[in-house]
Amino acid sequence: MPAAGKPGRDCPRCPRLVAYREALRVKEPTWFNAPVPSFGSIDARLLVVGLAPGVQGANRTGRPFTGDYAGVLLYETLSLYGFANGKFDARIDDGLELIDCRITNAVRCVPPENKPLPVEINTCRDFLNPTIAEMKNLKAIVVLGHVAHNSVVSAFGAKKSQTPFKHAGKNMLGELALFSSYHCSRYNTNTGVLTTPMFRDVFEKVRRYLDEKQPSAL
Ligand code: URA
Repeated sequence: MPAAGKPGRDCPRCPRLVAYREALRVKEPTWFNAPVPSFGSIDARLLVVGLAPGVQGANRTGRPFTGDYAGVLLYETLSLYGFANGKFDARIDDGLELIDCRITNAVRCVPPENKPLPVEINTCRDFLNPTIAEMKNLKAIVVLGHVAHNSVVSAFGAKKSQTPFKHAGKNMLGELALFSSYHCSRYNTNTGVLTTPMFRDVFEKVRRYLDEKQPSAL
């Protein structure tokens, strides 16, 4: 029986994603091949929202951004700004800890070609909503890419026109600060859409915002 607000391993809600998952379970029986749970404490002040598990990354290992290229830059940057501690080794037993930070995905199951359909993003918001709601100390969200940005904006019932995506930009969702970033995918970094300094800029702003404006309740 799945915990309330969390997808079970055999979540049936998106037929296309279920079919892909079933095929992967046959092809790669040792992989995780299930909705990937959030990583980090619900007491954190920061939530990072990615797109969806990568097939050989989170879908294989069972931890967001673990095992594929996107995670290398993400975890390195989180460590740099004090949101992670330990050595990231792309395995879920690498001992890496998040500090005052939690990571989730807009879509919990791996989508073919990394592209969830709008209906899948909307359906999986039923799991994003409780993920946000259960974080009682939440002060800031970092969204990685347009899909995560739009899904979080929809989760708050805010207007997209009044909450535009801008890299390293900040919008307020009520009391909560929403920081937007281009996704740290290999494609974006290889094409120069996102550079390491651009990505650091986002987390530097988040660090400053939390340190100056939002004292820790812990
Ligand atoms: N891995 C994830 O968990 N999420 C992404 O958005 C990309 C890779």
